[in-house]
Amino acid sequence: MLIYHLREVVKTRESAGTAFRLVVPSLQIALGEKIALIGQSGCGKSTLLDLLAMILRPTDIGAFRFRPEPGAPPIDIAEIWRKRQLNELGDLRKHRMGYVMQTGGLLSYLSVRENIGLSRRLLGLPEDDTVESIAEALGIRRHLDKLPAKLSVGERQRVAIARALAHRPSIVIADEPTAPLDPIAARKIMALFMELVEEMHITVIVASHDWNHVDKLGLRRLSHRTRQKEGGSVTETVVTG
Ligand SMILES: Nc1ncnc2c1ncn2[C@@H]1O[C@H](COP(=O)(O)OP(=O)(O)OP(=O)(O)O)[C@@H](O)[C@H]1O
Ligand SMILES: [Mg+2]
Repeated sequence: MLIYHLREVVKTRESAGTAFRLVVPSLQIALGEKIALIGQSGCGKSTLLDLLAMILRPTDIGAFRFRPEPGAPPIDIAEIWRKRQLNELGDLRKHRMGYVMQTGGLLSYLSVRENIGLSRRLLGLPEDDTVESIAEALGIRRHLDKLPAKLSVGERQRVAIARALAHRPSIVIADEPTAPLDPIAARKIMALFMELVEEMHITVIVASHDWNHVDKLGLRRLSHRTRQKEGGSVTETVVTG
């Protein structure tokens, strides 16, 4: 059962006479899969994640289908982009997706508990023990009533992970979630993160510049190749998987 099915999806980004092009001839991701996107700076990781998160509008779309629920029919994202139904994309993101950003993106004036529970509150989900139990699993329960500024960088990244999971999305998209951490802390947090998504049956896509952060955690690695084209004015990355 596929959560993503993309065919011939292209995104071109231009600035100051140079262009970057991301080409996805074919990409299929199964529900519950754990995916790694590894590559050097500028190869297009964030661009692909933003396409999958339906934040960036593709320049060309052959097919783009998203099935957040097993058993339900896939949603035709290409059609939604064509009709510019941006509210519909916003609703899908809010209900079905969670994000972990490189620098956490926590709200500084809310406690850890409120940060983690934010998506649940915005969606009107019940105040059950979800926040506590996810915090427990990530080893940050004792910090729940503190402000993020009182936490270490690693602890803040754990909070960011908890926040992305608390509304039980179908998929979590994580863009270099362990980049600010030392390698040992990065591996440890990534392992916890992968354990949790597996337990909660959530699909996950993690971008990183370092395979060491995710090695041996059972992720499927998307392959991609970057080349200079058109006399060096276009950088093109082709992703398949
Ligand atoms: N808003 C934008 N407008 C124009 N070009 C952009 C824009 N954002 C990114 N790019 C270009 O697209 C290419 C891919 O950028 P992207 O952010 O996807 O790379 P990345 O793999 O995530 O890099 P990093 O590891 O540094 O985060 C880069 O060459 C960048 O200059
Ligand atoms: Mg990036």
